[in-house]
Amino acid sequence: MCGIVAYKGHRNCHSILLNGLKRLEYRGYDSAGLACLRNDGQLSITKRRGKVKELEEALTDKNCDGIGIAHTRWATHGRPNQVNAHPHADQSRKIVLVHNGIIENYLPIKKFLISKKIKFKSETDTEVLVQLIGYFYNQGKMDFEKAVRAALQRVDGAYGIVIMNTDYPDMMIAARKGSPLALGIKDNEFFIASDISPIIKHTQQILYLKDSEMAVINGNKYTIKSVLKDITMPKNIEQIDYKIDDYDKGKFKYFMHKEIHEQVDTIANTVKGRVKSDAVLLHGLSEYWDEIESADKIYITACGTSWHAGLIGKLLIEKFSNTPVFVEYASEFRYNHTLVDNKTVVIAISQSGETADTLAAIKKANDYGAVTVGICNVPGSSVGRETDCGVYTRCGHEVGVASTKAFTAQIGILYFLALKLASAKGEISKTSLKRHLDYSDAMKKVKTVFRQEKLIEKIAKKYKKATDFLYLGRGMNFPVALEGALKLKEISYIHAEGYPAAEMKHGPIALVDKNMPSVFIVPKDKTYEKIISNIQEIKSRKGKIIIVTDSKNKVLKELANDLIIVPRTNHYLFVVLATIVLQLLAYHIAVSKKLNVDQPRNLAKSVTVE
Ligand code: G6P
Repeated sequence: MCGIVAYKGHRNCHSILLNGLKRLEYRGYDSAGLACLRNDGQLSITKRRGKVKELEEALTDKNCDGIGIAHTRWATHGRPNQVNAHPHADQSRKIVLVHNGIIENYLPIKKFLISKKIKFKSETDTEVLVQLIGYFYNQGKMDFEKAVRAALQRVDGAYGIVIMNTDYPDMMIAARKGSPLALGIKDNEFFIASDISPIIKHTQQILYLKDSEMAVINGNKYTIKSVLKDITMPKNIEQIDYKIDDYDKGKFKYFMHKEIHEQVDTIANTVKGRVKSDAVLLHGLSEYWDEIESADKIYITACGTSWHAGLIGKLLIEKFSNTPVFVEYASEFRYNHTLVDNKTVVIAISQSGETADTLAAIKKANDYGAVTVGICNVPGSSVGRETDCGVYTRCGHEVGVASTKAFTAQIGILYFLALKLASAKGEISKTSLKRHLDYSDAMKKVKTVFRQEKLIEKIAKKYKKATDFLYLGRGMNFPVALEGALKLKEISYIHAEGYPAAEMKHGPIALVDKNMPSVFIVPKDKTYEKIISNIQEIKSRKGKIIIVTDSKNKVLKELANDLIIVPRTNHYLFVVLATIVLQLLAYHIAVSKKLNVDQPRNLAKSVTVE
């Protein structure tokens, strides 16, 4: 799972490829590598364990004009070290390749190649693919394009690849199955990447390769061919009018901290122009609104933090519009027996729009005839393109691996989608709708949460040595508890579990002792009294209690070891305020442990393999 960027033209490759890799580091950052054809015709490959910065420092050979490929990796097969980093070359060191995806049948192919006296250097499935291409090219005496096609026809799994061959110094081949690849075209220059972010500043002429297509660039010309047979495919070039801003941390030490603070504006940006005082607009859904409104049921599918937003979305949509909603992890949805048909709406939520499982879930839903709706943050991303219709969360580039502002923006969209459905189905009165749509006061309250940051920082320092945390909430605050626990795990490496507060009695309570903090999310709503009992249950077992609430009262003060009070608001928006508190808590715990909050170990911002 990884980021690919490649260049073919007349300019020096290094800065184009390195800048591209920096854009793609969200896909993985355990190692990086670059290969180019030197001006003397020799292949130059540089790889480093670690981040793109490490690779940049190691690149001393500047003699590379014209053609090069580069890669940033998130290890699947083989440890994250220099040998396993891409690009990988075949035994003759003529053919070199970068790959995103997983070759599932790599073991039998490897066995076959070993029997043909081919020696392997790395533990990766990718090397197996390049060696197979090399085998067909060198021993099968096929031309380069044929050898690539022959190898690809024998592999199972997913791939986005770019390949060069020193015998064909003016040729570059890219192919895809499952893992997205975009080709940018500018006069006599070509840019290939896993998504358009490294390309768009060079050209807006983009061709998205379809599954089982390959782009063969030869000199100044290119053709799109099928991987399955030697036939030419149509060139569907799109003009993408999308600018990608440069991003910086501003006054913050970490992007994550900046992004948490940005929520003061992002939540409002998400809804701006989409909500009137008496109606929800959501123009992105207009074309399919009749089908959405009359759907029998809705599935929400997503991964990670976006899945947590989906759980909140379910409760909102069911509560307001009485439409049944099922929420499934995309990785499960894609293989489970699902009840999806042409009367079903499938909502796919994704910050990046590139998560492999979410894309596969969308494909399945499209194949079953459902209307697919994307809720996504990145315009031009695969989720935006593969769904029938959708809404962008518009909260700006999210760099920190742990998702923050995208989550609250997703909740915003789901809240208004629920209200739109309710209004269309006559499930909500005009007065009640108007009350919900007057969100401006609630938005102001987002700002006031940050007044608690010093207190949260103090609490974070107090508990930074804890090894386990419980996060407990009820109703919509159960997904908030899951999200709070996920944030803590992701960036502080402390084990944390989110649970419905009452369900905690059925197992997790066994873990409670005087060292274990439990974070309770306690709005003053209909479950308030019940949750007080749940707190008592933990308290009587000497557990430490941290309470996040919108209610100032003596009972909570007495029960809590630490109390964080957020302003009272429409209780649907309490989830947003409580989420921000939990994001800050996780952030300050991780910072006090001196961890790299933006790029935590083993994670990637977008998981582009299944
Ligand atoms: C990765 C990220 C998470 C994110 C999840 C889903 O695991 O580390 O922060 O929630 O992918 O990503 P998506 O871009 O589809 O929302």
